[in-house]
Amino acid sequence: MKPSFAIVGCGKVGTALGVFLNSAGYRPAGFASKSLSSAKRAANIIQSDHFSDVPWEITRNADLVFITTPDGAITDTCDNISRNRGFANNTVVLHCSGALPSTILSTAKKCGAFIGSMHPLQSFASVDYVTNPFKNIIVSTEGESRAVKVAKEIATDLGGTSVTILTEAKTLYHASAVVASNYLVTLLDLAFKLIGEAGIAGQDAFDVLKPLIEGTLSNVEKVGIPEALTGPIVRGDLETVEKHIEEIGLITPELLALYKTFGFYTIDIAKAKGTISESTCKKLKRIFGPPPPADPV
Ligand SMILES: NC(=O)c1ccc[n+]([C@@H]2O[C@H](COP(=O)([O-])OP(=O)(O)OC[C@H]3O[C@@H](n4cnc5c(N)ncnc54)[C@H](OP(=O)(O)O)[C@@H]3O)[C@@H](O)[C@H]2O)c1
Repeated sequence: MKPSFAIVGCGKVGTALGVFLNSAGYRPAGFASKSLSSAKRAANIIQSDHFSDVPWEITRNADLVFITTPDGAITDTCDNISRNRGFANNTVVLHCSGALPSTILSTAKKCGAFIGSMHPLQSFASVDYVTNPFKNIIVSTEGESRAVKVAKEIATDLGGTSVTILTEAKTLYHASAVVASNYLVTLLDLAFKLIGEAGIAGQDAFDVLKPLIEGTLSNVEKVGIPEALTGPIVRGDLETVEKHIEEIGLITPELLALYKTFGFYTIDIAKAKGTISESTCKKLKRIFGPPPPADPV
């Protein structure tokens, strides 16, 4: 028999967990949220009668407790439940934040609970689910070994795949996701602005660059970094990169620092590929210049 679960924080992620854990055979112990209406809405979806705006009334009866409030409310919510003896002995308490470690749930340990986090690498945009948003995604888990074991089973039961990360490096894990997702958008914005200067703007910029972007992603997947790196830096083509810097400086000077910073870090990847000599490497570093110093705080 699958464990019983309680959801505290019936927003986008909490509702999705409630719906698809229920479908996977987990038994709903109930739903709690700041507002009774959110708890009731989530409970209604799976025809449960158990909802409340007092979390410990719900969590006391659960083998698993998910605290899916906004990140800033997780610790207080957990502390309140602990203070009101709302975790039964051996309960597994999980939050879903990508940025925060499981240690923010430490008060639950005093009640004999096991703590962990499971972060679904997915974007949850609404509380209305037609398809399972956990299907085929990666769920990152960390925490006490018993909690991690349970979180990994849950990820599998929801249709995803789990990876385990180091609790002490949770912030860097999250920074990596920000770079891969948010900064990819920033990088594409830079590329679109540059090609815009050549007369290809808007949707056309995306359409023209898309095969190149997809080809590069495919190469990274197939041969990895540094082998996937192509272009003037890896060829040691000093003249071309000097021209880029000159033209960008003339036409779109506001983009020059970003272009040079990416170029500077690309030199080491080219060096690792073994296609440029030490002297070319030094010349390139002079051309791109050291990255600008951080602003004094
Ligand atoms: N959204 C995503 O794409 C995504 C992806 C991965 C992970 N996550 C993580 O999942 C967690 C939940 O995010 P979300 O996007 O689902 O947030 P959300 O849609 O804003 O839902 C949070 C819910 O918690 C309730 N709540 C707020 N304070 C509370 C409290 N003190 N006690 C009980 N309930 C409280 C909210 O209020 P009401 O009761 O008033 O409705 C709301 O229903 C966060 O840790 C987030 O980092 C989110």
